[in-house]
Amino acid sequence: MTDQYGRKIKYLRLSVTDLCSCRCVYCMGAEGVPKLPHEAVLSFEEIEEIVCAAVSLGVRKVRLTGGEPLVRRGIDELVRRLRAIEGIRELAMTTNGARLAEYAERLKSAGLDRLNISLDTLDPEKYRKITRIGSLSDTLAGLDAARSAGFTRIKLNAVLMGGVNDDEIPALAELARDGTFDVRFIELMPIGECADWDRKRFIPAERVLEVLPKVQRVPSDGVAELWRPEGWKGTVGLIRPLSHRFCADCDRIRITPDGMLKPCLHSAREIPLRGKHGEALVCAIAEGIGGKPKEHHITDGRTSDSLRGMNRIGG
Ligand code: GTP
Ligand code: 5AD
Ligand code: SF4
Repeated sequence: MTDQYGRKIKYLRLSVTDLCSCRCVYCMGAEGVPKLPHEAVLSFEEIEEIVCAAVSLGVRKVRLTGGEPLVRRGIDELVRRLRAIEGIRELAMTTNGARLAEYAERLKSAGLDRLNISLDTLDPEKYRKITRIGSLSDTLAGLDAARSAGFTRIKLNAVLMGGVNDDEIPALAELARDGTFDVRFIELMPIGECADWDRKRFIPAERVLEVLPKVQRVPSDGVAELWRPEGWKGTVGLIRPLSHRFCADCDRIRITPDGMLKPCLHSAREIPLRGKHGEALVCAIAEGIGGKPKEHHITDGRTSDSLRGMNRIGG
């Protein structure tokens, strides 16, 4: 389906839980966030129904997000169910990687196609500071497990934080040299209760290009601008929602763990899908797509209009 600005919506980001095994400083406060009551979270049956309805409107790619999707019990079973839906070309997941050592093989055999893994630093102490409760060794073990399970084209996501990990741009980018990973640097977006922190630590993604050897632009079909340093097999990506707004090419909608459709990551508008079935469900999703806003307004010096934080949207 096409929205009012002519953008074809093909990609559904589905947050399966608000819970997380980390408490990243750019995502939540130190105390974490009050968790959604169990009954507020969509069941697998409800998720399946919503995904089928979205596919009937032209969605071809589904990404499971969180919180942390791997803390949702039975997540591999959900992957298996979604994989069986005809019409989905790509089924992917974005994870912090901490539980991949346990889950990678199960996800692969359930039919998950691709993984994006958050990795903001290679320094164990810094990792603990950024995630507050996470441990770098778990995530590195998760990366190994993902490769051993046969996942390829794994993307690593590093959120750029001035004074925190900008000194590690070369070391993180280096993980793309032999093509084992593609590495993407993401500009901090001021959203939710961390918005003030996010704003203070913002650095433009262009900084990455300043410290890399000779780079060449390569074509991309996602939100990242891709660059390949001379002689490297993998790519280094820049996701620059602030310094280079990419909303004109947006192809996605989001579903929150409690069943709200968010036409845009940064808009306040949410459309309830719970309790809707059949044609009414399809109509509600179509209404969300039809009313998708043109762009976000953070670049005008404002904070995200979203009324919920990242952990309940999934990025
Ligand atoms: P691919 O399917 O591999 O292209 O993944 P992706 O980049 O769509 O997904 P991922 O979950 O890895 O997202 C990486 C970063 O991009 C996260 O920080 C997201 O919040 C951010 N991002 C993804 N989609 C959008 C979007 O529509 N708008 C904005 N502003 N940021 C987005
Ligand atoms: N700004 C930019 N990226 C963020 N993420 C979480 N919070 C923010 C933020 N405020 C990223 C995570 C993960 C992805 C899903 O979203 O690091 O890679
Ligand atoms: Fe968890 Fe992701 Fe938020 Fe970090 S950014 S606390 S890994 S939901």
